[in-house]
Amino acid sequence: MLMSSMCNKNMGSIKIVGLMMVLFSLVCSSVVNATVSYDDKAFIINGKRRILISGSIHYPRSTPEMWPDLIQKAKDGGLDVIQTYVFWNVHEPSPGKYDFGGRYDLVKFIKLVQQAGLYVHLRIGPYICAEWNFGGFPVWLKYVPGIELRTDNEPFKVKMQGFVEKIVSMMKSEKLFEPQGGPIIMSQIENEYGPVEWEIGAPGTAYAKWAASMAVGLKTDVPWIMCKQEHPPDQVIDTCNGFYCENFQPKNPSNPKMFTELWTGWFTQFGGPVPRRPAEDIAFSVARFVQNNGSFFNYYMYHGGTNFGRTGSGLFVTTSYDYDAPIDEYGLLNEPKYSHLTNLHKAINLCEPALVSSYPTVTWPGKNQEIHVFRSTSGACAAFLSNFDPQFSTKVFFENMEYDLPPWSISILPDCKKVVYNTATVSTKSSDPKFIPVENGLSWESYIETTPSSSDNDTFTKDGLLDQVSMTMDTSDYLWYMTEINIAPEEGFLKTGQDPLLTVMSAGHALNVFINGKLSGTSYGGLENTKLTFEGKVKLTAGINKISLCSATVGLPNIGTHFEKQSAGVLGPVTLTGLNEGTRDLTKESWGYKVGLKGESMNLGTTAASSSVEWGGGSSLAQKQPFTWYKTNFNAPDGNDPLALDMSSMGKGQIWINGQSIGRHWPGYIAKGNCGECSYAGTYDEKKCLNYCGQPSQTWYHVPRSWLKPSGNLLVVFEEWGGDPSGIKLVRRTV
Ligand SMILES: *[C@@H]1O[C@H](CO)[C@@H](O)[C@H](O)[C@H]1NC(C)=O
Ligand SMILES: *[C@@H]1O[C@H](CO)[C@@H](O)[C@H](O)[C@H]1NC(C)=O
Repeated sequence: MLMSSMCNKNMGSIKIVGLMMVLFSLVCSSVVNATVSYDDKAFIINGKRRILISGSIHYPRSTPEMWPDLIQKAKDGGLDVIQTYVFWNVHEPSPGKYDFGGRYDLVKFIKLVQQAGLYVHLRIGPYICAEWNFGGFPVWLKYVPGIELRTDNEPFKVKMQGFVEKIVSMMKSEKLFEPQGGPIIMSQIENEYGPVEWEIGAPGTAYAKWAASMAVGLKTDVPWIMCKQEHPPDQVIDTCNGFYCENFQPKNPSNPKMFTELWTGWFTQFGGPVPRRPAEDIAFSVARFVQNNGSFFNYYMYHGGTNFGRTGSGLFVTTSYDYDAPIDEYGLLNEPKYSHLTNLHKAINLCEPALVSSYPTVTWPGKNQEIHVFRSTSGACAAFLSNFDPQFSTKVFFENMEYDLPPWSISILPDCKKVVYNTATVSTKSSDPKFIPVENGLSWESYIETTPSSSDNDTFTKDGLLDQVSMTMDTSDYLWYMTEINIAPEEGFLKTGQDPLLTVMSAGHALNVFINGKLSGTSYGGLENTKLTFEGKVKLTAGINKISLCSATVGLPNIGTHFEKQSAGVLGPVTLTGLNEGTRDLTKESWGYKVGLKGESMNLGTTAASSSVEWGGGSSLAQKQPFTWYKTNFNAPDGNDPLALDMSSMGKGQIWINGQSIGRHWPGYIAKGNCGECSYAGTYDEKKCLNYCGQPSQTWYHVPRSWLKPSGNLLVVFEEWGGDPSGIKLVRRTV
């Protein structure tokens, strides 16, 4: 231990000459500099092969005030490495304008990890997927002339290289790569590109090669990996993502076997149930991977956190990104998962000397039984005894001893004799998460959002229907499409009362239809397909009638080949049937456009602007009105328990606290699915182990403590559907 610590990081910066050099060489044998390399077995850090245990914590999904505690809990949980993506779209919101402050302070986050004595795996991407808005790409990128994303396209490669260079040079100037004395031991370029390459062929292969050599050319002196990359370019390590990865083999047999995303659960979508993954099965997946030569595994996620603001992506991803991770969204321990995995890490650490210095000998003593033994020349021995039967326990004989194995489990014997851990034997009590109301009866005031009309001076007119994002540039979820139709007094429906039928086809994701300023109906897309069709009878009068369609996106897509080409908004056809003439097609009419809500342009979520409009309180409080802003003030509750808002009385919209956006709320979207018994035994299927069927997909919304002042906090809610704010409760999260 002493020797290895003497050969540690700081030495990279020491210029060693002459006698010193000889002296150090003697003490540290062959290792002189801080280095990171690898062989087929494992990563080698400062001359030492390591089994590396890693977990994903994404810095923008929590607050800087939460980071030290999350990192400490990760360390206490036995992690060696924190893995994070780099989120291009928050760092470069407009070309050349950078933001690395607050939740986006990447350098601060990495330095906190370093202070805790852990390493960093930096996944620069810059395509990151991650259920993050637009997969991490800034929306402006899509509008660079001639650009095509994630392929052999010059304008794209220029922008991508620019950002990757920016991040690498930041890391270098802060001395954050391991050979410089920093914590970063590996980086990632691109992300899950294999499936795209498979689909697009030659240009994809050329692009992947370019990406790898561009990255390697930046000379970070730490290895680069590419995950889910079936044809890895030579200079990078191909790695596996999944629920299980024991059968994965790197294409190059001299690369180590790495598991970059071991899914600890799954994300939740509005309209879908909440997935869970049992701790026993995660531990089983880890043990299977390690007993098959695996030497790096990363929990995706270790702390999932929150999609604050409008950062959740367009698969209706919820504001909560809890992911059923070992540390929950609120930073509390998710038990028994956290402790069960912590105990697993202790067992693996005991096995490390044998694991890094030998290959396993595998035997099959009986049906569904498997024994892996690692025996090093220096005498270390570790054994893994497996039972792959999902139903029945079994007895395994190993070196004249008998061992009982529960179904679907692996026992770990760090000395080849004594079982210190079994993946299916959980010794920690489950946590009992609760939300306890601390504030009821908040006193609300309301402001009704005005329906714009195409004659307003802040609208513009175009012929036909246009893609939503090309209009909003994603500065808002909302885009108004407005047109006026003239109804002749001799129209038959005016006399018969048979109202005409309005049909609106939209590429998604949600739609509110206003006729002459009154809400006439609402429609929204489904989980698999975000396209929607609104069909409803509409009340029209003789003369001019205003049709105003408010289309809302719920995040931009983040996945799929050329996901950036998917459209959103009302693209038509839009038709009116039941007129004297039969059907009138409004698709090619002249349409007025207005980006965003009036309340958004006045920044009603912020303290200053909220006093600039007439708010109605008391008897003039809006009652269950659609398209209404609500505000109230509250004091911070005592103590340190994490806080949330129970939004179960509301429909759909957005929430701000003291001007900071908590995210989108949509408790009105009820989870469809089959919830039922969740057994740990048997291959995990994310379509099972579901919770909250028939209930809102997300009821509670995290309010970070650090966003509150002791008193007079401003809470603003924009509500689309006409929910009842008197039901909103501030709650404390406890486990
Ligand atoms: C472990 O790696 C060695 C060397 O590549 C290989 O021969 C062996 O089959 C691997 N064992 C398992 C269980 O994957
Ligand atoms: C637009 O109209 C509003 C009121 O209807 C007015 O206050 C504002 O000054 C006008 N803006 C422009 C640019 O004409």
